[in-house]
Amino acid sequence: MIFMAKIQTRYVCQNCGRVAARAMGRCPQCGAWNSMVEEIIAPPSTPAKSPSASSSPGGFTSQPRRLDEIEGDHEARLPVPIGEFARVLGGGVVPGSITLVGGDPGIGKSTLMLQVALEMAQERRVLYISGEESERQVKMRAVRLLNGRPVPENLFLLTETNLDSMLEHVRSLAPSVLVVDSIQTVYLPALESSAGSVSQVRECASRLRDLAKSAGISIFVIGHVTKEGIIAGPRVLEHIVDTVLYLEGDRYQSYRLLRSVKNRFGATSEVGVFEMLERGMSEVLNPSEAFLAERLVNVPGSAIAVTMEGTRPLLVEIQGLTSPSPLTLPRRTPNGIDGNRLLLITAVLTRRLGMRLAEQDVFVNVIGGLRITEPAADLAVAAAIASSMKDTPVRANAVLIGEVGLSGELRMPSQMSARLREAAKLGFDTAIIPRRIRKGGEAYPEGIQVLEARSLREALNLALLAGG
Ligand code: TYD
Ligand code: MG
Repeated sequence: MIFMAKIQTRYVCQNCGRVAARAMGRCPQCGAWNSMVEEIIAPPSTPAKSPSASSSPGGFTSQPRRLDEIEGDHEARLPVPIGEFARVLGGGVVPGSITLVGGDPGIGKSTLMLQVALEMAQERRVLYISGEESERQVKMRAVRLLNGRPVPENLFLLTETNLDSMLEHVRSLAPSVLVVDSIQTVYLPALESSAGSVSQVRECASRLRDLAKSAGISIFVIGHVTKEGIIAGPRVLEHIVDTVLYLEGDRYQSYRLLRSVKNRFGATSEVGVFEMLERGMSEVLNPSEAFLAERLVNVPGSAIAVTMEGTRPLLVEIQGLTSPSPLTLPRRTPNGIDGNRLLLITAVLTRRLGMRLAEQDVFVNVIGGLRITEPAADLAVAAAIASSMKDTPVRANAVLIGEVGLSGELRMPSQMSARLREAAKLGFDTAIIPRRIRKGGEAYPEGIQVLEARSLREALNLALLAGG
């Protein structure tokens, strides 16, 4: 039998590789559920994709070249007038790159990318494709974001979800920057599966990547994060794109963090801080100051940590609350820190310092909607809990930096000098940190008194002046 369809597809189990002709809910080979994903069968005559290759003997298209002859020691980047956005990208937008901007629905992805489009359209042609909102909706939002400034002539808007049609418009308009909002609404008519499915998302994203590379367009693709915290299935998109940015933050608070988790052209885990205001996302130029703005001084249960987000030190308030629990298994509620980290810290406080946390519910909260992943905040978390338990405030104007080990020892985190400098800059006069074991190394900055402690017990004695 001969199929006349332009594109043939098959279903491949992403777990074991079993191939089937039709969609199946469960793989007949390995038994995995929902693992069969539609894939395009490439026609055998098509040669391997390779845009800029000249043929060479043997029929292969690649060629070894002397490294010093290859350009690329300094990338030409398109400037982005939004500094916090540029910082996360590593200095600007790389032509021909594709960037994924992910985040929960409603967090502000469309708002931020429309702002980027508006700003970049001052200098060059930008196309914003929306499959989520109508032309009128986008226009109204743009006018609000511009706040009286004129609408740039070089910004084009297309409401479309069919990828074939998009690609045609992009070719004729030839923008230098393209925003696709969102990848979940885009579909390729040749595929049977519906928009937003793993196969559509993957295939559409690879076509967009090919477009970026072949036409030298900088493409931003917006993607919603699913409930499991991953974009459309098993991280399909992250492998396809050059750069992955996540916009995060508490929907009910105004701060938003733009974090790079993958970047072929710059450092990862770089963070940009924004505040969602009535007229869009506003850059927060001094995040530490902003995060500490509502802090009450001299109340029990609050400690200041210094966390490194990429190359930037951030001061954050950590709150702890202990409260007698009616439960046989008291609650451990981490908000903004890892749950296992909290269990470890409460266990060390219980076993090494003899605190009676076994009958207490323990709550920890990181202020500002920040999520801290590094253990350098352990000491501040422990101090916030101990401070609440003993009803004694942490020494005013002190920051606490250090990782807590299972024996109750304190360990030195990286980049201590940068952390201390940031603390000093914000007017903190004391830092309680782990004792340095190795001699030499950087001198600590002036203007801040450094108190060294070998153990959590020593550190808490220094931090909670009345207790021990
Ligand atoms: P949006 O950018 O649509 O989120 P996403 O694309 O990530 O789903 O932003 C949605 C929220 O942002 C919505 O609740 C309204 C709010 N918002 C502001 O607070 N200020 C603004 O200027 C704009 C445009 C939106
Ligand atoms: Mg949106």
